[in-house]
Amino acid sequence: MAVCLKGRSFLTLKDYTPEEIMHLLQLAKELKAKKKSGIRDKLLEGKNVVLIFDKTSTRTRCSFEVACYDEGGNATFLTNSQMASKESIEDTAKVLGRFFDGIEYRGFSQKLVEQLAEYSGVPVWNGLTDEYHPTQILADFLTIMEHSSKPLSEIKFVYVGDARNNMGNSLMIGATKMGMDFVAVAPRELFPSQELVDEMRELSKETGATITLTDDISGVEGADVIYTDVWVSMGEEDQYAQRIKMLEPYRVTMDMMKATKNPDVLFLHCLPSFHDLGTEVARRVKEEYGLDEMEVTDEVFRSRYSVVFDEAENRMHTIKAVMVATLTGK
Ligand code: CP
Ligand code: NVA
Repeated sequence: MAVCLKGRSFLTLKDYTPEEIMHLLQLAKELKAKKKSGIRDKLLEGKNVVLIFDKTSTRTRCSFEVACYDEGGNATFLTNSQMASKESIEDTAKVLGRFFDGIEYRGFSQKLVEQLAEYSGVPVWNGLTDEYHPTQILADFLTIMEHSSKPLSEIKFVYVGDARNNMGNSLMIGATKMGMDFVAVAPRELFPSQELVDEMRELSKETGATITLTDDISGVEGADVIYTDVWVSMGEEDQYAQRIKMLEPYRVTMDMMKATKNPDVLFLHCLPSFHDLGTEVARRVKEEYGLDEMEVTDEVFRSRYSVVFDEAENRMHTIKAVMVATLTGK
């Protein structure tokens, strides 16, 4: 049966079947090809979307705005709203649902984005919460499809680092849905929650995925993809000392890339990344802890393995697919 996602929210990949995820990836591929060939379309003509960011963003915000304008829609970036401080989430959602065809929310609580979806009556898109970052996974998987000759179901996907953050959780869910061999290489304290692991192991019986958690770096052997993320996520800025201690052995280095024994291995990172001293945060960490690089070395980040900027561009094409699919049913 043809997939139709009209009216659906996109809050976590848990809510989407493998076929629906593949539909979004294929649609993103088509929309990307269309844009590259210079065709401007009007798939979102007459649609108004609102973007709310309680955490900072470069890629996600720009993706929603450019994607919307590319297809003839209008995007309102909402700051200084009454939401949560002077007006409940429920009331705000009901108001926004009267004005807008779709709502994007980035912030701390998954419950908040779920409440927006429950009360607004329009599709709500999760632009990142403490628990999940589902739109990022679509960009990651599209990038793998573009750079690997293997289908997603044959990919050995190794996530290295903080495996219990929004990226660790969402990548494990996405990989399980798509039938991949998912390995989290992380210190035990940073394994994903047992509850989520059990849920995904149950699902893997249907999809053919495998899920391995290990604190042993040799788990990278045979990887088609090495993925890492920052050691300290937004909202956890008091955690640097502990995280550096736990995660320094898990930095993605050229030795780790070679330990995959796969000359075609890809390096992915959702970005932003602390691969050099080009940021205020990295310079503070250098002063306090003496590190020049955090989760990945500059050498790997800039190497031929790295597809991080293709991945960043794909945020826009995949977010466009999410909006087009959920607002128009295409
Ligand atoms: N990867 C990602 O979500 O980037 P931004 O924080 O810049 O949106
Ligand atoms: N785990 C990171 C992802 C940023 C895109 C964070 O939440 O800060």
